[in-house]
Amino acid sequence: MAISEDFKRELKRRINIADIIGQYVTLKKSGRGLMGKCPFHGDDTPSFSVSPELGVYHCFGCNESGDTIRFVEQMEHLDYMEAIRWLAQKAGLNVPENDGDNRSYRLRQRIFEANREAARFYVQQLYTPEGKEALDYLTKRHLLPKTITHFGLGYSPKSRFELVNHLKNKGFSGTELIQANLANESQWGGKPYDRFSDRIMFPIIDLQRRVLGFGGRIMSDLKPKYLNTAETPVFNKSENLYALQFAKNKANGQLILVEGYMDVIALHQAGFENAVATLGTAMTKEQAVIISRHCTEVVICYDADEAGQRATARAIGILRPLGLNIRILTVPNGKDPDEFIKSHGEQGPARFRMLLNKSGNDVDYRLNKLRSSYQLDITQQRVDFLTEACQLIATLDNSIERDIYTSRLAEELSVDKPAIKQQVEKYLHIRQRKNDRQAQRTIQRSLTVPPLPLGTAQDGYHLRTANTEEALIALLIGNPDVAVTILPTLSPDLFVTSFHKMLCEMLQKRAAQGYDFAISDMSDTLSEQEVSRLAKILSTHPYEEDPASAAKEYISVLQEEAERLSPQKAASADDDTLLKEMRKLRSKKQ
Ligand code: GTP
Ligand code: MN
Repeated sequence: MAISEDFKRELKRRINIADIIGQYVTLKKSGRGLMGKCPFHGDDTPSFSVSPELGVYHCFGCNESGDTIRFVEQMEHLDYMEAIRWLAQKAGLNVPENDGDNRSYRLRQRIFEANREAARFYVQQLYTPEGKEALDYLTKRHLLPKTITHFGLGYSPKSRFELVNHLKNKGFSGTELIQANLANESQWGGKPYDRFSDRIMFPIIDLQRRVLGFGGRIMSDLKPKYLNTAETPVFNKSENLYALQFAKNKANGQLILVEGYMDVIALHQAGFENAVATLGTAMTKEQAVIISRHCTEVVICYDADEAGQRATARAIGILRPLGLNIRILTVPNGKDPDEFIKSHGEQGPARFRMLLNKSGNDVDYRLNKLRSSYQLDITQQRVDFLTEACQLIATLDNSIERDIYTSRLAEELSVDKPAIKQQVEKYLHIRQRKNDRQAQRTIQRSLTVPPLPLGTAQDGYHLRTANTEEALIALLIGNPDVAVTILPTLSPDLFVTSFHKMLCEMLQKRAAQGYDFAISDMSDTLSEQEVSRLAKILSTHPYEEDPASAAKEYISVLQEEAERLSPQKAASADDDTLLKEMRKLRSKKQ
């Protein structure tokens, strides 16, 4: 759907790309733009650049690029119009609607509203006579009133209709409540009834402070102990972490990862406000990427039981490749963090701090685990342990780290260090060969697909041209005052690359009509792929000191190249030269 130019201009005036992206990524000033850790891949060095001036972002690590709208689409899993509405809401604007295409967006909004109202209702119930037992329960579990308020804890009453009635009075339909999973459909054709009954309610809140769903704990020994909101259009538990909305501001580089709601709450109350929990599931890749956006070190503090240890191993496997430092905190005597803190009374926080300080890294943890499964006084078992330990050490990317563990292992088992080192290196080579083969396959695959899918077949023959074209496009978009004088006389045929030619024509048309041409003004008429390609062009071409004369120079280069590569000459460039040029280009990039 085309959006009116007036609306786009107003939206652009009110929304700053840095404010939007800044809600997800910590950005620091760098040159004329901002840099942060890329939210789209596990990024250990900040390689994500944002330009408030041009309204674009680009990651030099994973190559993702786009404008504000594209960013919101990606992060919030929205389509184009939904992202526009999302932004408009932030800006306090109404999107001129032609109805029909926004049903799913509206439903999501309704679910958020219903959830918020439900959360309020549950909180109120906690302070009624019926909620007294629940409030006493929380007090018995040592939660202070201010903690209960901070986390928005509530109580869902026994009767199966109170919430449904309350929300119906507020104008929500039965269908909406079922879709929010606040109510269950009656199997006998009757009214929908409350999903949660007689439970302590934990609202699950995202970084935009929206209520996504709930966890509900029963106060007796009945099962299930926790009942959670199922998947809904707004809630996907594998993409969220409990209490991240608080923890991200207190992280200071480190997050503590625990299993349960109560562990998080007890830790926050004890002053460890950087604790988060996966929502009763094994850690997922999505959660790990989210974690990596907010810290550089994770302390895994799962239960000491077998399930907890399996979950720890899994989390290490997912977090380590993202470049995060990992430490493992083991709470003694099979307690969870909540029980541990409580059992030490006033000393609880200090005791937990001690555990935190002495928690070892994940390599120590894995070596200890390995060691405990062998009887080291039996020779064969020593050999087996050493073999496995060498394999583990070989997976470490840092050579200093490898050397330290090699020394330690040698000392501990009284084995010659060079012997262990040799073994580690053997496994390292095997691993590297495997990686190389994989990289080679990727390159081969990419060589067999057309290099620039959005351009003409000629793109590859004219690298100098393509580069100059990009620079010229970036210059025109970045300097509208220069552009309006140059565009009217510029021939689009000067652009060999079809994508650039199309952009040139588009800019000309918009300039003639007096429209703006920042990327967000044009993105509704470009495909997703085109937006991202344009954003990349804008992000990778430096600002010109003197744009007017730079533009002239670019144009003369394009004219020169057009003459040099007349049609006959272009046709003689064969596949070999193309491949050679591409390889050169690739090796320069790396
Ligand atoms: P408390 O007994 O209240 O201290 O709970 P806890 O936080 O110590 O929970 P526990 O270690 O038993 O479980 C960890 C997390 O797993 C909980 O916070 C829940 O998210 C989830 N969980 C536990 N029991 C259930 C259950 O019966 N059903 C579901 N769906 N999730 C559960
Ligand atoms: Mn517990």
